Amino acid sequence: MYRRLKNYVDIIRERTDLVPGAAIVLGSGLGAYGERIRVEAEIPYSRLEGFPVSTVAGHQGRFLFGTVRGVPVVLMQGRVHYYEGYDMQEVVLPVRLMGMLGAHTLLLTNAAGGINLSYEPGDLMMLTDHISSFVPSPLRGANMEELGPRFPDMSQVYDRGLMEKLRGAAQREGIVLREGVYAQMSGPNYETPAEIRMLRTLGADAVGMSTVCEAMAARHMGMRVCGISCITNMAAGILDRPLDHQEVQETADRVKDHFERLVTSFVSSLA
Ligand code: HPA
Repeated sequence: MYRRLKNYVDIIRERTDLVPGAAIVLGSGLGAYGERIRVEAEIPYSRLEGFPVSTVAGHQGRFLFGTVRGVPVVLMQGRVHYYEGYDMQEVVLPVRLMGMLGAHTLLLTNAAGGINLSYEPGDLMMLTDHISSFVPSPLRGANMEELGPRFPDMSQVYDRGLMEKLRGAAQREGIVLREGVYAQMSGPNYETPAEIRMLRTLGADAVGMSTVCEAMAARHMGMRVCGISCITNMAAGILDRPLDHQEVQETADRVKDHFERLVTSFVSSLA
């Protein structure tokens, strides 16, 4: 696996020598942020042989290398999920690759269901912590010693300094930024009302099908991590109606402007 990662690094280095200060993973419906950056190189995942490719509507599949107000970044337009059938090691491979390309900072974004009853669809939530217990660890199996330790600490996955920068960005842009705990479930089905009550009892504020595994892989290799959920819907059982992917995409589309301003302001503050 490490050799495979090294090989991808070499292929990408033939196309661009940009060293990203920050890596950004764009979640469901949030991929349009790619249009906000000054692009220097575009690398479709299909150029990297054996690279995991997403099949979900609303997910493109490419890396964009470029700058946001002068800050060098690499963006993932489209990510793969555990529910697509990939092993966790494959799901987190792109994040590891971006780390190996030099990104010390990782911003993970996603669409999520709101569990906290004070949330509303369209809210943005900064992750303060997560619950990974319902999906396998991406670190299971032989440890990649080149990347990090066998038993990595997870007592502060989401970096305090980056959280402070996100709060500052939200304030500058006049955007309300919620803060909460995100739980990753395997999907692809949405949760049941009983599962949502369970997650609320366990301390989760939002639920989704991504992000946590990537945050763990990034922490393992020492990256500084932060995350933003776009609350696209209230989680199952809160409102008396079924959930669907279209609602998720429509809400993500509606908050696009807030989301993009928040991310741009945050990334500029990394300079
Ligand atoms: N549950 C899980 N994943 C999600 C949801 C949800 O309610 N909304 C968007 N992604």
